[in-house]
Amino acid sequence: MNDKNLLWHNANISKEQRTKIKNQKPCIIWFTGLSGSGKSTLGNMLEKKLYELGCHTYLLDGDNVRHGLNSDLGFDKQSRVENIRRIGEVAKLFVESGCIILTAFISPYLDDRKIVRDLVKEDEFIEIYVDVPLEVCEKRDPKGFYKKARAGEIDNFTGISSPYEVPINPEIKIQNDKIDIEKNIDKIILYLKEKGYLDV
Ligand code: ADX
Repeated sequence: MNDKNLLWHNANISKEQRTKIKNQKPCIIWFTGLSGSGKSTLGNMLEKKLYELGCHTYLLDGDNVRHGLNSDLGFDKQSRVENIRRIGEVAKLFVESGCIILTAFISPYLDDRKIVRDLVKEDEFIEIYVDVPLEVCEKRDPKGFYKKARAGEIDNFTGISSPYEVPINPEIKIQNDKIDIEKNIDKIILYLKEKGYLDV
């Protein structure tokens, strides 16, 4: 829907002003990967580290958002597309507010991630592919969902009965089964520092 009777209201305070007092460059840090790959753990650890560095952040997590904003959505393709569309729009608002927004969603489709990327400026979207093989995620099975999916008790389970499209050119790739999580966090922080997102 794009109602012709709706107008855009300009705010008194600009994005630049909101950003300036936060001493950082706002962006979306978008974690994508299979269930059990460690997106939420990485997101939480990274947010803690950024907080300690004095950054203004917020973490949107799949499991939590699906309890509230997206509680009406399931896991069929259409619902997942809508899930990511809404998260993308929310993340964009956080960028407008000058925040560094971290998101941890499977976000299995290339097209949907591209749509979010295109919502913001080129340097405001940092895609982090949490690359952990399905066998490892399935073995970890922290929520017991893989077992249920294999038993046919959960439909459309990513990696089992629903696809995951691997990122082609992510800004950062994390091997969260081979490399220590602390080292992975350091790698992300280094990227953010080198690219000028922190201490602006
Ligand atoms: S997404 O595909 O739409 O991006 P999202 O990240 O919001 O998924 O939610 C994934 C989480 O929901 C998983 O970590 C898991 O805990 C739970 N879940 C429940 N059913 C499914 C399913 N069919 N496929 C994947 N994850 C599921």
